[in-house]
Amino acid sequence: MRFMLMVAAASAVCATVAIAEEEDHFADAVETRHGLMLQMATEMGKVGAMSKDEAPYDAAVASKAAANIAAIASVLSMDQFPAGSEYQKATDSFALPAIWTAQDDFLKKVADLNTAAATFQTAAGTDLDSLKAGMAGIGGACAACHKVYRQPEE
Ligand code: HEC
Repeated sequence: MRFMLMVAAASAVCATVAIAEEEDHFADAVETRHGLMLQMATEMGKVGAMSKDEAPYDAAVASKAAANIAAIASVLSMDQFPAGSEYQKATDSFALPAIWTAQDDFLKKVADLNTAAATFQTAAGTDLDSLKAGMAGIGGACAACHKVYRQPEE
């Protein structure tokens, strides 16, 4: 009996260690994609403030923000989304499992973001009216992916 208890306790410890290792295994990827996403959100904040007349329009700042979004979009790939690093399996992940079951569509949404960012780059640097008109396109590319592939935070 005592032996059985010890075996049970030992395997419980092993299971815990296995989960911890699995989570650590994805920590870098989750952290990397969060960093890329947060930087895009920071850039969106700059152009968003201008589009809402909360910040003065500055063509150079707007153009640079749009260029940064385009640069980050070009980095996004499955590299930051290793299979298994999903919501409730990897720590801090809000990435839905559909990313891996519908990978072609997920990558199409990455490509759509790249296209939208290139278009927005021209608009943002032209004038305030063009920036305002371009906001829906770039914001829509973010939302189109989040709607399907990102678990909303509580
Ligand atoms: C191709 C899909 C896709 C596109 C396009 C996309 N995202 Fe994301 N985004 C995700 C996924 C998936 C997550 C959840 C990642 C996770 O929690 O591991 C996420 C998470 C985020 C987060 C939360 C980061 C955190 O630390 O929890 C922010 C902010 C964000 N995205 C901003 C943006 C912005 C801004 C754009 C557009 C400029 C954008 N995203 C475009 C898929 C996308």
